[in-house]
Amino acid sequence: MLRIRKITELAHLYLRLNVKEGEQVIDATAGNGFDTLFLADLVGKSGQVYAFDIQSEALAITKHKLNEHGIDDRVTLICDGHEKIDLYIQNKVAAVIYNLGFLPGGDRDITTRSETTLNSLSKALPLLKNGGLAVLVLYPGHGEGKTERDHLLKYCYKLLPHDYSVLHLRLINQPNEPPELLVIQRNLFGMPGDA
Ligand SMILES: C[S@@+](CC[C@H](N)C(=O)[O-])C[C@H]1O[C@@H](n2cnc3c(N)ncnc32)[C@H](O)[C@@H]1O
Repeated sequence: MLRIRKITELAHLYLRLNVKEGEQVIDATAGNGFDTLFLADLVGKSGQVYAFDIQSEALAITKHKLNEHGIDDRVTLICDGHEKIDLYIQNKVAAVIYNLGFLPGGDRDITTRSETTLNSLSKALPLLKNGGLAVLVLYPGHGEGKTERDHLLKYCYKLLPHDYSVLHLRLINQPNEPPELLVIQRNLFGMPGDA
């Protein structure tokens, strides 16, 4: 059963519906590796995941997780800021996920920030193939997370409707500013009804 209260489950659902075996995808915030592992499983043996994090501890945890599942061969771990995504990836990708905020169990001061997140997203969107998705899990429950959410929404409102479609999902009856989801799709062209 899908628990709509678990925003990461919704994020994974959209990815599962869109990403196929053999495709290339990006995890912009590897953290404890749950999203990287999920993506590595989705793209299968012939696919490729690029996973970024600025903390080597996070990438070590991610690597360990992938090793345990025997699927580290299809993942490239990159210890660098996702705002430099263009230095590492030039080919088209099926999806990118940003699970924002700080590393659970880690230093809460090392968190994603509006400026770098927006910089990265503006470089990642053109990398999406037609129909590709950028999925962002937002955490407005903490100070920087709220600013980041507000800036991202402002940015998304301005995305040209011809080029992208943006979905914003939020729980409206839960306390304490629960996580929210943004799903950005690069519009499909050449499909019936998608002119
Ligand atoms: C909420 S955690 C990610 C959770 C993770 N996806 C998982 O499945 O466990 C956010 C991560 O973003 C990383 N981060 C912060 N700023 C970053 C940046 N500019 N580029 C890449 N990663 C960054 C943090 O180090 C942290 O590990």
